[in-house]
Amino acid sequence: MNRHHWWRDAVIYQVYVRSFLDSTGDGIGDLAGVRAGLPYLRKLGVDGIWLSPFYPSPQHDHGYDVADYRDVDPVYGDLDEFDRLVASAHRLGIRVLLDIVPNHCSSEHPWFREALAAAPGSPERARFHFADGRGPDGGEPPNNWHAMFGGPAWTRVTEADGRPGQWYLHMFTPEQPDWNWRNPEVAGEFDRVLRFWLDRGVDGFRIDVAAGLFKHPGLPDSPDPEADARTRDSVNPLAWNQPEVHDVWRHWRAVCEEYTARDGRERLLVGEVSVPSAREHAKYVRPDELHQAFFFDLLGAPWDADAFRKVISEAMQDIAGTGSTVTWVLNNHDQVRTVTRYGEPAEGSGLGAARARAAALLMLALPGAAYIYQGEELGLPEVVDLPDDVLTDPIFRRTGSRARIRDGCRVPLPWSGQASPFGFTSGDEGAKPWLPQPDYFAEYATHRALADTRSSWHLYRDGLQLRSALHQLGEGTLRWLDTQPGVLAFARGDDLVCAVNFGTAPVPAPVPGTPLLASGPCPPGELPGSTAAWWIDGS
Ligand code: GLC
Repeated sequence: MNRHHWWRDAVIYQVYVRSFLDSTGDGIGDLAGVRAGLPYLRKLGVDGIWLSPFYPSPQHDHGYDVADYRDVDPVYGDLDEFDRLVASAHRLGIRVLLDIVPNHCSSEHPWFREALAAAPGSPERARFHFADGRGPDGGEPPNNWHAMFGGPAWTRVTEADGRPGQWYLHMFTPEQPDWNWRNPEVAGEFDRVLRFWLDRGVDGFRIDVAAGLFKHPGLPDSPDPEADARTRDSVNPLAWNQPEVHDVWRHWRAVCEEYTARDGRERLLVGEVSVPSAREHAKYVRPDELHQAFFFDLLGAPWDADAFRKVISEAMQDIAGTGSTVTWVLNNHDQVRTVTRYGEPAEGSGLGAARARAAALLMLALPGAAYIYQGEELGLPEVVDLPDDVLTDPIFRRTGSRARIRDGCRVPLPWSGQASPFGFTSGDEGAKPWLPQPDYFAEYATHRALADTRSSWHLYRDGLQLRSALHQLGEGTLRWLDTQPGVLAFARGDDLVCAVNFGTAPVPAPVPGTPLLASGPCPPGELPGSTAAWWIDGS
């Protein structure tokens, strides 16, 4: 048993700093706000927090465009405030993970500015991917790659003499130039960045775009540029998931182990790994690589018993033997919230909310680790009707489409009161959150949720408490039980059974007795539609 590896069954809460709690009254959340919210998170019972990027940044992609990897953007605070946050979190037994962005930086990063000022072929340009264009006068991009957020993956620069010059590669927006990881200077710089934060006491890192970093040597054309353009998934086989990236993760793991050897505190690396198959995914969590990699297939599954069973079984199979456990996730800052994703308005409101609660209880019963995205514990729906003029997601700007934009899950949290800003900002009445909060957020405010034992917050809190009381939950495997179509039930260890009714009509409960915990009211002997429950078998 690996009980001493805290991360194997950890539940981590993702804090989207900008939208958590604002201590300065400017309408933007900040690190002091996160510190003020720690007791709330302690009550919820999470093992740690992952902070979305708070580094100095021009915010073209809300901090995923980093201009300085070793500081705090003044909008979010400063290094002293960061140190206070880590100290307070540790006093409360909450671990702190940072979001590190190694695939690309900001076009404002000093090294990129130096590269722009330097000549083609210079060492400054060699830290990025600069190349001459194709076609007459080099007016066409060097290859046919598409950027994830729309448009070509290349932008042409103006050289010192004022003439159009080389092109540089950016797999996201033009404001996010990709690092050239074949240049040892880049690896060396990230080593220093890791150590800078580890020396300040952090417990690990969530690694942005962890299947990125290396590009195929020579940057040849993609075999299927149309497929790359159609999807925001990382499908271009020459731009993502190159074998060399695994050496980086082996090295970063060794750096973490070095710190553990010094003080006995185990650090955690969790990768955002988007790769085509569960087999490829498993390679990232081999024993000497990342500790965890988000398993996004559960998040991508529709509300359907067979679909859920398939992705859960595949995850369990593929992760077995890697040394890791599955890292489950249902929500994050890039996805439509579960309440809205699972909802079917034609069948009446509340269905999405009931399903989201059931999915949460299912996730918390699975072996492995789980990540909760802020507001998920409140049952917050996606804000789907933000007006165009407040949208900030570069995907909207670059594709002209509202499809899959991400502002709706990033609206600042409601804490108290009946009207916006719902206690989110400490400013006066006029203080405006950076994205407008709808009136109905009043129903979801944390104050209200804490006072109402039927709230989603209580379900998550009770689930987390029981999960740690029933020690066997994080490790081991699951055994599927026979059920009727549309219902999933599995046993964990000797006695815990979790069942979920994906249909809308009640079914007989698969286990006698009163559930230990349920996502909705459960009459004796019955499992109502869109409901999950936990039982201790034989009770
Ligand atoms: C990751 C982040 C996303 C960001 C992108 C580029 O997918 O989760 O928010 O826009 O990387 O850094």
